[in-house]
Amino acid sequence: MLVTMSPWFAAALVAVASLSGLATAQEFTIANGQIFTPGPAVLDAPQPGTPLGGQLLEVALDVSANGRLQLPPYPADTPSRIHNITIFLQSYVTGRNFTITNATASAGNASLGDIMLSEPGSTVKHVKWIWPDCLMGNGPPATAESDRGRYNISIRQNFLLNGESHYTIFNVPISVTNSIQSIAGSSSDFGGGEGQGGRPSCDLLNNPLAPFEEAEEAFLTSTRTVRVLFAPGDAITVQQTFAVPGAGAGATAWPFRWLTAFLSLLVLSILS
Ligand SMILES: *[C@@H]1O[C@H](CO)[C@@H](O)[C@H](O)[C@H]1NC(C)=O
Ligand SMILES: *[C@@H]1O[C@H](CO)[C@@H](O)[C@H](O)[C@H]1NC(C)=O
Ligand SMILES: *[C@@H]1O[C@H](CO)[C@@H](O)[C@H](O)[C@H]1NC(C)=O
Ligand SMILES: *[C@@H]1O[C@H](CO)[C@@H](O)[C@H](O)[C@H]1NC(C)=O
Ligand SMILES: *[C@@H]1O[C@H](CO)[C@@H](O)[C@H](O)[C@H]1NC(C)=O
Repeated sequence: MLVTMSPWFAAALVAVASLSGLATAQEFTIANGQIFTPGPAVLDAPQPGTPLGGQLLEVALDVSANGRLQLPPYPADTPSRIHNITIFLQSYVTGRNFTITNATASAGNASLGDIMLSEPGSTVKHVKWIWPDCLMGNGPPATAESDRGRYNISIRQNFLLNGESHYTIFNVPISVTNSIQSIAGSSSDFGGGEGQGGRPSCDLLNNPLAPFEEAEEAFLTSTRTVRVLFAPGDAITVQQTFAVPGAGAGATAWPFRWLTAFLSLLVLSILS
């Protein structure tokens, strides 16, 4: 098991987010407004259940395992690293599954590039995604055909932790019910020119949804096998090697393995 957290403490951290009309109440581990996930990413915003709208969706993710994991570029042989994080806005109510980021930017950043490479040096990555055209409107969905309403921000982490590879799925419910209006500029900046109101086209960002039971099983399995990590009181140790200072991207760690190990332990004990 990866997590050592005393049960009374874990219980104190768990908050149940219930969004009106949501079939299942999900449990979240929240401390000081940070939402812990089955992986190194910690969600700073938005909070589960928030009604959202405006110009764009902003997702703030701490990718440092709450200060315990170094930032990329990682040394080639380090046993702990984030390979990539992909994020989708998906809903089994509307049947939509939009790409927020799949690590390859599309025209005009209608979907975003590799967030691990954005804001270099910053442990918090601010994912800013322009709401696509079909989400325009104000208030709850006006018709059964509307694409507005309940969604999950689905955060998918592909990572190596202490030499073991993991892929986890973390779904955060939100509702697209606040005002989203047309914006200045041309939809053709986002490729294809099919979008409306200066916004990217929903259809260009949409992906098929897996059958609900299959998706639910993948989601539940993630949380069962990896569990929520790095919350306060979680004593998990992150093993890593550090690049020689100034050696540049992807450099091999110091050949003096004993020295590296010693330094890692030193850093870890300072951080913990
Ligand atoms: C994410 O990383 C995994 C493991 O290295 C790789 O198999 C996968 O293709 C990557 N996905 C993206 C979107 O880069
Ligand atoms: C959001 O994700 C949870 C967990 O996977 C799921 O139970 C719920 O039905 C999803 N909500 C929507 C609107 O798709
Ligand atoms: C996406 O945004 C990044 C960072 O702002 C910028 O460097 C890049 O040129 C943009 N890419 C596209 C395809 O618009
Ligand atoms: C990334 O997402 C965009 C928008 O959905 C899509 O056009 C593109 O093919 C995807 N790229 C990869 C590598 O999956
Ligand atoms: C949403 O689309 C992405 C990209 O195609 C896919 O990896 C993911 O499994 C889809 N989500 C669901 C719940 O089917």
